Amino acid sequence: MFTVSLSRPDDIDGWRDAARAHLAAATAPENIVWQVASASDAGAAVAAAPSADLFAADHTVLPPPVATQAPPVPRSFLDLAERVICHSDPTRFALLYRVLFRRAWGGEPDVLRQAADTDMHTLHLLGKCVARERHKMHAFVRFRQSDGVDPEHFYAWFEPEHHTLRLSVPFFVRRFANMRWSIVTPAESAHWDTRQLVFGPGGRKGAGPGEDAMEDLWRVYFANIFNPARLMVDAMTSEMPVKYWKNLPEAPLIQQLVLDAGARASAMVDAEALAEPRFAAVAEHPHAVDARGIPVVQKAADGMGSLGALHAQTRACLACPHAHKATQTVNGEGRVGASLVIVGEQAGDVEDLSGRPFAGPAGEVLRGLLKDADIDTQDVFLTNAVRHFHYEVRGKRRLHKLPDKDMVDRCRQHLFQEIKAVGPQVVLLLGATAGRALRGRAVRVTEERGVVSTTSSGVKVVQSIHPAAVLRADGEKAASLKRDLQSDIALAWRCVNAAVAPS
Ligand code: URA
Repeated sequence: MFTVSLSRPDDIDGWRDAARAHLAAATAPENIVWQVASASDAGAAVAAAPSADLFAADHTVLPPPVATQAPPVPRSFLDLAERVICHSDPTRFALLYRVLFRRAWGGEPDVLRQAADTDMHTLHLLGKCVARERHKMHAFVRFRQSDGVDPEHFYAWFEPEHHTLRLSVPFFVRRFANMRWSIVTPAESAHWDTRQLVFGPGGRKGAGPGEDAMEDLWRVYFANIFNPARLMVDAMTSEMPVKYWKNLPEAPLIQQLVLDAGARASAMVDAEALAEPRFAAVAEHPHAVDARGIPVVQKAADGMGSLGALHAQTRACLACPHAHKATQTVNGEGRVGASLVIVGEQAGDVEDLSGRPFAGPAGEVLRGLLKDADIDTQDVFLTNAVRHFHYEVRGKRRLHKLPDKDMVDRCRQHLFQEIKAVGPQVVLLLGATAGRALRGRAVRVTEERGVVSTTSSGVKVVQSIHPAAVLRADGEKAASLKRDLQSDIALAWRCVNAAVAPS
């Protein structure tokens, strides 16, 4: 029997090192006891080994490796493990190790890919729970200024259910890099002094400062961004659970805003009827080009308009029922200022697990064609019309389902705002769903592909087929579809070059 003593409840490095050594030695899962050394989580010692004496074994004495090597663990699983480890479920360490053991030594080489496997399913649920709490933390942490502290320091109190503080703080470091702040939770605290992040012991509510001017500003801001036309009280209370309200300065405003929502929404509908079509806004900020005609990378505006903030909002969106079944939101990937945005249909199985668009087989076709066309992926922003994987479970597999019109409609604003934030010259639409999302109508891909249109704000739009169509076809049909896609990519790239060429 071996005992692994982890230094913290979210000690991913400790878990990974121990798991690697035990996998190499083919230690059976039931022969390892996982425990957390810190006093705050002493109760999390794993109960997986029934009669284990936690103090008898020495975790520093690792078993010798066996001759045959365990296969390397894929990055996507490590990403999942990083989230799962932050869950408060005491069986998490053992569960993560068990699936790796089954894969390496149990004759189940594909187990990590089987989302319907009971262990994998549980891991994805735990990971999703943690990801949700991280979003909640990003959304509901409210800083208050500490009175009379010089230089000024901001303080926030938060009560997470899981060990999500360390997972969440990089967001605050990026977002509030120039502020001095502390986030205090019951178990642990994080402190940023504009240069260095340090972690300290937990605290208690009320130990920080009280109301301040920043809260007044926040209330004004909240009242202004509150969108009465999007009011869904059930979704709001599930997205913003009441347990968080007590720490939110805007909570007292919510009741009145909800009461006024009907009248405000009607006024918005009237105003909307007179407004320019939404797509016109896509390229509101035209590209600057340098002396060689190369687009200058534009920094997204800070605050709510930036791509990062937009993506944080999208990650928190659970407006569609299928979003609740997805592992995570798959946002677009690439840089602000990319000249070409490529829009696919929706995240697939691999994308759902990895969190990256076009990470699976269709992405392989697409990325291969971009490479063949010598298109630098630095100049491409990849995204999707629908951000959550929509699927049905068949046996051990999750089968892709076509997103319906409502899903596309609900995701449309995310797509438009993302395109607006990137500010491309050209948008390439892959397949009918992408076409519908951008054009707001049904698109006949076979008839409309290979055609360039221009939006009212001067962005060129090229319609093409979806790379999955190439994968679904055989022989000459597949080769011909691939040529179509190749030629549409080349067309889109010519439009980029024409747009950035000096006149
Ligand atoms: N298909 C898509 O349309 N998008 C992806 O990200 C993956 C597959």
